[in-house]
Amino acid sequence: MAASATRTLRIAAIRGDGIGIEVVEAALPLLVDAARAEGVEVAVTDLDWGGDRLLRTGQAMPDDALDVVRAHDAIFLGAVGHADLPPDVSVWSLTLRLRKELSLSANVRPIRVWPGLAPVVSGAEGADFVFVRENTEGEYSGVGGRVHAGQPDEIATDVAVHSRRAIERVARYAFALARARGDVLTLATKSNVMKGYQLWDERVLAIGRAEFPDVTVETNFVDALGARLVNRPTSLGVVLAGNMFGDILSDVAAPLAGGLGMAPSGSVAPELDAPGVYEPVHGSAPDIAGRGIANPMAAILSGAMLLRDNGLARAADCLESAVGVALQQEEGRTPDVGGRSTTTAVADAVGVALRAELAL
Ligand code: NAD
Ligand code: IPM
Ligand code: MN
Repeated sequence: MAASATRTLRIAAIRGDGIGIEVVEAALPLLVDAARAEGVEVAVTDLDWGGDRLLRTGQAMPDDALDVVRAHDAIFLGAVGHADLPPDVSVWSLTLRLRKELSLSANVRPIRVWPGLAPVVSGAEGADFVFVRENTEGEYSGVGGRVHAGQPDEIATDVAVHSRRAIERVARYAFALARARGDVLTLATKSNVMKGYQLWDERVLAIGRAEFPDVTVETNFVDALGARLVNRPTSLGVVLAGNMFGDILSDVAAPLAGGLGMAPSGSVAPELDAPGVYEPVHGSAPDIAGRGIANPMAAILSGAMLLRDNGLARAADCLESAVGVALQQEEGRTPDVGGRSTTTAVADAVGVALRAELAL
């Protein structure tokens, strides 16, 4: 093979708060190793962004945060939610800013039932589906406020905003994914009640007819889909949802994969040259933070998504296979998935399995 210049993958690492810090520390070396084995150098920029920085300086991220992350290929994030800050301050000062300001229109959340983990519902074996969640607006628009604060007639509003532009760009991503996977696209809405979701049904079905006639698309009201997730998860392929429904459904489905500690995600801007944010679905888990027992698998699997989206398919496959191998071993499971291992011991078990996968 002809010698070629070494490529460098530039990763901005934001540990965040609580167990976010712990799972990034455990997972990051594994994705670096997997990429290097593919001949790709990895340059990691450690960013101390999050709750501690906000308490110290008044800002979770610096003024030039967007420029800083744009100089990278991808962002690897732990989780936000600082014990000494109101939860809304943590999320609006970092996570939601990155998703909105980088226009990361699609939040991709795969759910896979792993051999070796006890299934939480019967009939779930073999379930393998992906949520594609609109990531910039909907119920998370930020439009709204409070009036008559503290008075008996106090009012709070959150205006759900659904634009054609956001619906169509995330729909195209979901259709393309369904086509690539050979899956049905299931659209979760509440168009029997809400105008915004009527627009979703109209635009998604229109895009399907015009641009993806080969992809079967079905609509499912979100309440019924919630039951289907539990009753017939193997009937799902790609599930497209708005911002809040996608948030809720992805946590509801996580136990199928072994729990929140097993659920990865990537926020991507398919039509833009912006770095994606790869992070576990879970939060900072204050109830277990600092105890060294957080499951790092969701972060590791988010790292595999980062690698795949950056052209390192084999490294991603090896990392995912290594997770599968480690989960079958006692040392590869933290307490949330029925084991007794620590975060670092699980990462070590994945590391051993990864080296074996890479050598194959
Ligand atoms: P959470 O996801 O942090 O925790 C929910 C439950 O799942 C807890 O019992 C926790 O111990 C468990 N859990 C989560 N991840 C785990 C892991 N890797 N290993 C083992 N157990 C795990 O949700 P929460 O308690 O509702 O929220 C805590 C804070 O995190 C809040 O401030 C919230 O706003 C924030 N949050 C942030 C994100 C994010 O950054 N993407 C996501 C969700 C919640
Ligand atoms: C998630 C989280 C976020 C969300 C928070 C941190 C803004 O719950 O990534 O699922 O609601 O999207
Ligand atoms: Mn969530």
